[in-house]
Amino acid sequence: MQLAAVILAAGKGTRMKSGLPKVLHKVGGRAMVEHVLLAVKKAGVQKIILVVGYQGNLVAGAIEGGVEIAHQREQLGTAHALMQARDALEGVDGDVLVLCGDTPLLRPETLRDLYRQHTRMGNAVTVLTAELADPAGYGRVIRSPDGRVGRIVEQKDAAPEELRVREINTGVYCFRLRGLFDALAALRSDNAQGEYYLTDIIEYYAGQGEPVGAVRVEDASEIMGINDRRQLAAVEKIMRRRVLERLMLSGITIMDPDTTFIDDTVEIGSDTIVYPFTFIEGKSKIGENCNIGPSARLAGAVLGKDVTVQYSVITESTVGDGCRIGPYAYIRPGCVLERGVKVGDFVELKNARLGEGSKVPHLSYVGDALVGRGVNIGAGAITCNYDGERKSLTQIEDNAFIGSNTNLVAPVRVGAGAVTGAGSTITKDVPPGALGVARGKQKNIADWAARKKRLVSPSKAD
Ligand code: UD1
Ligand code: MG
Repeated sequence: MQLAAVILAAGKGTRMKSGLPKVLHKVGGRAMVEHVLLAVKKAGVQKIILVVGYQGNLVAGAIEGGVEIAHQREQLGTAHALMQARDALEGVDGDVLVLCGDTPLLRPETLRDLYRQHTRMGNAVTVLTAELADPAGYGRVIRSPDGRVGRIVEQKDAAPEELRVREINTGVYCFRLRGLFDALAALRSDNAQGEYYLTDIIEYYAGQGEPVGAVRVEDASEIMGINDRRQLAAVEKIMRRRVLERLMLSGITIMDPDTTFIDDTVEIGSDTIVYPFTFIEGKSKIGENCNIGPSARLAGAVLGKDVTVQYSVITESTVGDGCRIGPYAYIRPGCVLERGVKVGDFVELKNARLGEGSKVPHLSYVGDALVGRGVNIGAGAITCNYDGERKSLTQIEDNAFIGSNTNLVAPVRVGAGAVTGAGSTITKDVPPGALGVARGKQKNIADWAARKKRLVSPSKAD
């Protein structure tokens, strides 16, 4: 098929009241313009041009490849934005889809259908419209008495009776390329916003006797455009539901979709169960048969299969098959847990590697550490990795046993099979197989308690 696409994404998005360009605000964990790009790619379009302007390099840098960039130096309106794609479309014949970067719910099937109908009707332009209960804010589609599309009027330019029209312009169009740029050049900016409106091309073409058509989208929620943060929240909710439904249909149990938040970018293996109050974000990847939650937050976490995570946070880390995490563990970036590791309650890990079957069951901090296999780290043991200036490494070799409340003052190494005495502050390496003890010797003072009582309250003691 000879079909190109232009995505308009040069606007600042003034109504977002944000320092970030509107199209980079995220929906379901992806920039909204990324969703539009994905839909266009999935619809089978190969030549895609993204028109950027406000913070254009930031926008261009944020998206994945396979897209040509055109710059709109000044944001003079949607028609002017489309004109900037002229060079990129030079020599391309056929038709072009035009979309806005702020409608992330659009489905590829809808785009394909629009194109099909457009070519079937042989139109110069076919606009995708929707019937909304509350059309406020959108351009209205004005039809002649015989039902033909005559023009689109923006909310700000509309007469009161036009504002009552509930059929709106979704901002998605299919154009015949031949003649398009001449038509755009003929448009004027004499409207409420002083902008070159792409929507005016409808009236222009209709006036020229060119065939103009409209296709109505079935599911109106699909075309919701995001202009402010209330709409961002509304679209987020729909997107989230879509992601959860896709996951459920692929064999994942989501116990309570209302309290589960999973980004569109996340992958989950089948038969995993996600319990309530769970957030799974970014490039997280979860294997089969895991139990995640309740109350887990995984961001950029890669989990193997049969992993359990309860009431815990894992960021930018890798967790092997069969690991058990939590409750109340905090696994910070840079951790690698091999198969069968246990990280229990009130344990914090950072930049630490734990070998197969090692355990940190309670109340520990392990940071900047290389821990071998089969190691047990007793309750309250911590690595002292930071001396106020430098971070240093702690190494604990295979099958070592770290006694409760050991302080491991890095850089330090505990050899294979070595043991540290509970309560020790270990500042020197412990050789393999040795016991390292570093604490005051215990002294017992006979009858001390009774004597103390007499000293404090002689009358009672008598
Ligand atoms: C636009 C349509 C409106 C439609 C609505 C659907 C026009 C004039 N109006 O209004 O009929 O109902 O979308 O959501 O087209 N942009 C540029 N350069 C510019 C101006 C805008 O690239 O100079 C881009 C924006 O980044 C955005 C898109 O075009 O992605 C639409 O702009 P926006 O300001 O959101 O237009 P709406 O007011 O929503
Ligand atoms: Mg908009």
